[in-house]
Amino acid sequence: MGKKTALVTGITGQDGSYLAELLLSKGYKVYGMVRRSSTEKFERIEHIRDQVEIRQADLLDQLSIIDLIEEAQPDEVYNLGAQSFVPTSWVQPVLTAEFTGIGVTKVLEAIRLVNKKIKFYQASSSEMFGRVIETPQTETTPFYPRSPYGVAKVYGHYITVNYRESYDMYACSGILFNHESPRRGMEFVTRKVTDAAARIKLGLSKELRLGNLDAKRDWGFAGDYVEAMWHMLQQKEPDDFVIATGRTHTVQRLVEVAFERVGLNWKEYVQIDKKFLRPAEVDLLVGDCSKAKNQLGWEPKVSFEELIQMMVDEDLKRLS
Ligand code: NAP
Ligand code: GDD
Repeated sequence: MGKKTALVTGITGQDGSYLAELLLSKGYKVYGMVRRSSTEKFERIEHIRDQVEIRQADLLDQLSIIDLIEEAQPDEVYNLGAQSFVPTSWVQPVLTAEFTGIGVTKVLEAIRLVNKKIKFYQASSSEMFGRVIETPQTETTPFYPRSPYGVAKVYGHYITVNYRESYDMYACSGILFNHESPRRGMEFVTRKVTDAAARIKLGLSKELRLGNLDAKRDWGFAGDYVEAMWHMLQQKEPDDFVIATGRTHTVQRLVEVAFERVGLNWKEYVQIDKKFLRPAEVDLLVGDCSKAKNQLGWEPKVSFEELIQMMVDEDLKRLS
């Protein structure tokens, strides 16, 4: 078989960069879809930029996606592009629905029009479980989203299932629990904490202001999670999978691990700031990835402690 081609939306994001590296290492030709911006934001893919075909298109613009799929003729499309920050989804609920929800339909429609044989991956989210109905959460746990982002992701999830069932397309959803890395955006809590711990250690900052320290998340390493995305598109039949570590920790525990890494007592630096509380919170997430283990042979490799230590170390290196 010749070289496979993949198209990745959201290639400039955390997951897009790790996935592009993985696909290149497997010998794929990789197209990356980026939206037009007055300044380029390619830091995460700078090191592989000459190896990927970057093209401008937008999840808000149907024709641009059709044109791109026609040009790339991909075997696989990974739809990672989204407005992915939960608090912003209350400030821009309509835009979030358009990027994160309707955008999925636009990509599916483009595939249906150009070539129904193209395999499709949708970046679904544990945020869909929201106010959880059961613990741990599995592929059959009912959804109860708690943010406009979560609601948009539920739409994206079900439209993916619907295209699979309506048009016999190979369309999969990965229900991914929180996954982080040294490339995580600065506003997400793990990176905010590891960056602050490093800054305080180096004397560049004096305090860290946070919201809810009691929320619990199932945090894994993004580099592990993109492998699961790829496995989902290599199966005989399309299906949906929970991708998680099966362990959950509070935000406070995250803070403890990060500050311990730099030898500081977090209580001397962390302040609670109401501005970081959410209108509706997701209190607890913990996933059961047995199906992925059994059917995909996928397992997380990096532990929570290793992940946070890796992020603190990278932030120290960058800031030193
Ligand atoms: P991220 O770092 O925020 O990246 C999002 C990407 O989407 C960026 O490349 C962004 O481009 C692009 N994008 C946004 N709006 C777009 C538009 N209108 N047209 C084209 N591209 C657009 O997110 P991530 O952490 O890598 O997550 C990847 C996907 O997985 C997202 O769909 C997210 O919702 C989902 N997810 C993430 C997690 C997690 O814990 N990380 C868990 C479950 C699901 P710019 O660079 O131009 O902003
Ligand atoms: N961002 C942030 N900033 N979160 C804080 C803060 C703070 O100062 N203080 C406490 N938290 C708490 C939030 O209230 C939330 O309960 C938890 O930390 C995690 O917040 P985020 O890191 O912003 O992630 P998220 O869980 O809301 O969403 C991420 O995971 C989803 C999967 O469950 C994003 O990556 C989503 O795109 C993804 O779908």
